[in-house]
Amino acid sequence: MDNEHDLKGVARPRFGWALTGSGHFFKESLEIMRTLPNLDVFVSKAAAEVIRMYKQDFDLASDVRIFKDTTASSAPVGAFYYGVYHTLIVAPATSNTVAKCVAGISDNLATNVFAQAGKTRVPTIVFACDTAPVMDTEAPKGMVKVYPRRIDLECTERLKTFDDTTVVETVEDLQAAVDARLKALNISKITSTS
Ligand SMILES: Cc1cc2nc3c(=O)[nH]c(=O)nc-3n(C[C@H](O)[C@H](O)[C@H](O)COP(=O)(O)O)c2cc1C
Repeated sequence: MDNEHDLKGVARPRFGWALTGSGHFFKESLEIMRTLPNLDVFVSKAAAEVIRMYKQDFDLASDVRIFKDTTASSAPVGAFYYGVYHTLIVAPATSNTVAKCVAGISDNLATNVFAQAGKTRVPTIVFACDTAPVMDTEAPKGMVKVYPRRIDLECTERLKTFDDTTVVETVEDLQAAVDARLKALNISKITSTS
């Protein structure tokens, strides 16, 4: 588990960003992620696969820390207890991750950071994917139609009732929510990762 010693030399407080295995707005979420300074990225196992399927690279600044889902206990989440994060963003969030978060399940890295952010009262933004009965979404080989189930839509609605949690449903609203956090914290975006 991360402790004070592991965090020596790491600028803080930081943004935490959990990336899950959703193709829906995966690339757009990465673009917004790349503009954030002092960032830690938590990558679900499915996200690590999906990023390859969409032929994407993280392409992040050199000081960004990337945590992959390799431990049963989700060891990196320990940092939440040391006040390392001022904000958590879960984007894009699969229907699987949203359902688990709503049910209070924390059995992998993405659901654990969401749970620990809640337990440490870190404001969280979740970009839910399943938000309408019919949606156009980007598959690796092009656009396809999907029909989220009633349970998927219900989970998104239930997540909106969680404390300290802002649920967004469009890229524009994700950008606006991130911008609002930057403004509240008086932090400037980064304009280039090179
Ligand atoms: C190419 C590809 C695209 C996917 N896109 C979505 C998506 O848009 N929304 C979704 O809920 N699941 C999507 N999935 C399925 C999830 O990756 C799968 O449910 C996975 O178990 C989610 O794990 P996670 O929530 O831990 O990241 C996609 C899977 C693949 C292979």
